[in-house]
Amino acid sequence: MKKVNINNFKKTLSKFPTGITVVCVKNNNKIYGKTVNSFNSLSLNPPMVLFSLGNRSSSINQFSKAKFLSINILSSKQKKLSDNFASSEPKLNMINFIEGKNKTSIIPGCIANLECKIIDKIKKGDHLIFVCKIIELQSDDKLKPLIYFNSKYF
Ligand SMILES: Cc1cc2nc3c(=O)[nH]c(=O)nc-3n(C[C@H](O)[C@H](O)[C@H](O)COP(=O)(O)O)c2cc1C
Repeated sequence: MKKVNINNFKKTLSKFPTGITVVCVKNNNKIYGKTVNSFNSLSLNPPMVLFSLGNRSSSINQFSKAKFLSINILSSKQKKLSDNFASSEPKLNMINFIEGKNKTSIIPGCIANLECKIIDKIKKGDHLIFVCKIIELQSDDKLKPLIYFNSKYF
């Protein structure tokens, strides 16, 4: 075992395969989206999920003031969307967002989508953990997931 530093922390965590999500909020009619793989299931009853966003993210203020959000689980065909929403100025005009029940912006063609209410925000280290209650959801059995492992897409 070795002492932890930023480099071996990143490398070691990259050995944990994850799916990829794009989380979206809408404030004053403008959509903000971020590529996030810190998404996970939290509670069955009530149904809750969580993810964390870096507190230096260009979108942290927009996510902090939102009440609802969409979590869009990308399919293997949506690598471009992952790259797009990992940038600080993602292009939005290539996406025909669908409006959710609470005016959230849902990305079409995903393997699954969740519409959530943000019920808690917890500061930990250099990230903010968003605790979200699921309001509505859908999934597609025919699509395959986009997987992130070893800093590469599969
Ligand atoms: C595969 C992948 C997963 C990511 N997961 C997260 C995450 O869980 N939390 C986070 O804050 N940023 C995550 N990022 C980084 C953000 O998408 C974004 O690049 C970063 O916040 C810097 O841009 P910004 O300052 O515009 O937010 C991830 C990026 C990639 C490519």
